[in-house]
Amino acid sequence: MTNAKKFQKVMLVGDGAVGSAYAYAMMQQGLAEELVIVDVVKERTEGDALDLEDAQVFTAPKNVYSGEYSDATDADLVVITAGAPQKPGETRLDLVNKNLKILSTIVKPIVDSGFDGIFLVAANPVDILTYATWKFSGFPKNKVIGSGTSLDTSRLRVALAKKLSVDPRSVEAYIMGEHGDSEFAAYDEATIGSKPLRAIAKENGISDDELLKIEDETRHKAYEIINRKGATYYGVATALMRISKAILRNENAVLPVGAPLDGEYGLSDVFIGTPAIINADGIASVVEVPLSDNEKAQMAASAETLKKVTKDGMD
Ligand code: 2OP
Repeated sequence: MTNAKKFQKVMLVGDGAVGSAYAYAMMQQGLAEELVIVDVVKERTEGDALDLEDAQVFTAPKNVYSGEYSDATDADLVVITAGAPQKPGETRLDLVNKNLKILSTIVKPIVDSGFDGIFLVAANPVDILTYATWKFSGFPKNKVIGSGTSLDTSRLRVALAKKLSVDPRSVEAYIMGEHGDSEFAAYDEATIGSKPLRAIAKENGISDDELLKIEDETRHKAYEIINRKGATYYGVATALMRISKAILRNENAVLPVGAPLDGEYGLSDVFIGTPAIINADGIASVVEVPLSDNEKAQMAASAETLKKVTKDGMD
């Protein structure tokens, strides 16, 4: 590990539905020894810290407390879930102005604390807020990670796994691009047990149209959940936990995240969903998937959407 401290510390900023689900998952998994929760609603973080500390007898000892941005000084990881969530009918991109404003009040005091760890951003529109966190912080690009298409990739794998009766963890297929309406399934490179997914689909009588339907349902799954229960949180919280683990355990794990591109896919100056190698330094490198021409065009179009909204939002 890069830090000299004997324990690991995570700061969670935003104690809403996603944040508290993340905090709970963290208690369950016994990941970092210290968890500090920050939110504008102090009563909420105090209440959650008291509630969560009651879980440690059944899991693992942990110091969980309600804190301030200044507590980030010796944190290894800051996870940002703070922001207005999508209401039914809203897109993630609709949240940009509101959530950029909120983000701008968060990043500076954390950087001023002397924080020198990794930022992991989940608030929406996540790719744009990740880019903004990089800009606001002045951090090297590799130390800022977005949850990107981690959740969407999970959704795709779950849907394919159901169709094909395999364990979703055995499906190697990625959703790439924006975490949002312009994302796409990189089916042309997808495999199960090294066998091309398209061949497996054909053998199982699954047409290309059905694969497109699965892609579309994946893209719209958040809307389905939000229409029913008002918000999504367990899926994204667990995806965040997986990325956190790769950072805190220095795993060098290949995960789909929101990563900065620097020439990969012919694109740059954008954070976008792609597989990348994640370790204690953040993004060790982007894994550039050898996309087909059609997928490359989808990636470029998705990046273009993000760049436009970023420019409008940050100017
Ligand atoms: C999700 O995809 C709303 O971005 C959130 O569940």
